[in-house]
Amino acid sequence: MSKNVFGLDLGSTEIKIYDKKSDKIWSEKTVLAIEDKRTVIAMGKEADDMYGRVPDAIEVVYPMKEGAISRFDNLQFLLATLLKRSSSYAKGAEYVVAVPTDVTEVEKKAFFDLVIHSNAKAGEVNIVERAIADGVSLNLDVAKTKGLMMVNLGGETTEISVIAEGGIVLDRLIKVGGSHLDQGIINLIKRSQDFLISKKAAENLRKNFNVFTDDSGLGTMVAGRDLITGLPMQKNITVNVVRASVKESLAEVLEGIYTILDRTPPEVRKSIIKTGIILTGGVAETVGIDRYIGRTINLRTRCAPKPALSVVKGLKKIINSEELKTLAYSMIDEGYRWMR
Ligand SMILES: Nc1ncnc2c1ncn2[C@@H]1O[C@H](COP(=O)(O)OP(=O)(O)OP(=O)(O)O)[C@@H](O)[C@H]1O
Ligand SMILES: [Mg+2]
Repeated sequence: MSKNVFGLDLGSTEIKIYDKKSDKIWSEKTVLAIEDKRTVIAMGKEADDMYGRVPDAIEVVYPMKEGAISRFDNLQFLLATLLKRSSSYAKGAEYVVAVPTDVTEVEKKAFFDLVIHSNAKAGEVNIVERAIADGVSLNLDVAKTKGLMMVNLGGETTEISVIAEGGIVLDRLIKVGGSHLDQGIINLIKRSQDFLISKKAAENLRKNFNVFTDDSGLGTMVAGRDLITGLPMQKNITVNVVRASVKESLAEVLEGIYTILDRTPPEVRKSIIKTGIILTGGVAETVGIDRYIGRTINLRTRCAPKPALSVVKGLKKIINSEELKTLAYSMIDEGYRWMR
């Protein structure tokens, strides 16, 4: 029987897995709850829900930080558990892992090591640049494109990439993602209203308000703590406050897009101007963010369908196509620059 193939997008907030044999994609939050530094008592959403609500003996661990692996063993354990949820899981499978481009070679190799040294006894591990997988998921010919700009707005990072003829021309990983937008909302409300809300509450505000399209100025009641009295209470938070904060946090992303466009060779830029910018990553789900970025940059901008799954859908295509398989490479090949 042929070996199974798994595609992995190890996101800072969510791990996405494609399983070739079952032809399924599933995802889980990148988080574990560990008791007494030893025992894993919960994983994924269940662990995430424990954040801020459990005694000190239980640590809620986020093993990915801003696009890089920060707790290797914990991530390896989480991944192994998620893989075993597949009915087609077996040792010796092949893995195709999406990795960010603008990180150090050591950080990149950590993704490879994570899988090759896990107890899944991987038969083979190959790497795909995340932006290439992102591009492949769209109905565009990545190998032939003269120029394509992808902006992956993730949970803790934003990766801006220019692709041409199947390769990455320019790439920048910015440490701004959904969680930074949420922290910005918390900070602004704290500063302006002496009111402290949780990260979850901030994320809900960001997701539920249509910050880019709602000009009603209306608000919603949010539970939090009054910082003057120290008492829990509810306060009305308006869409205007959330919008101001989100726009402020996104300024760095917009600046990054400008800089990358500026550095793009003219021929490639011409093609980008024709195709426009494509947004992926979970934050791209925000209603109207494509129009906001498009108007500010003055380039047509659109959002990929189901943008959070865009990378893993690209991996699925790569895994299932003989032609696209060449986009994946091994880090132990002689030709790989890390080993030279
Ligand atoms: N409907 C939505 N509207 C706005 N934001 C959303 C929506 N759904 C998910 N998100 C945001 O998407 C982010 C997660 O996106 P994604 O899964 O692409 O990140 P990731 O791959 O885990 O992180 P990274 O790529 O930075 O390592 C979270 O911050 C979440 O709040
Ligand atoms: Mg991601």
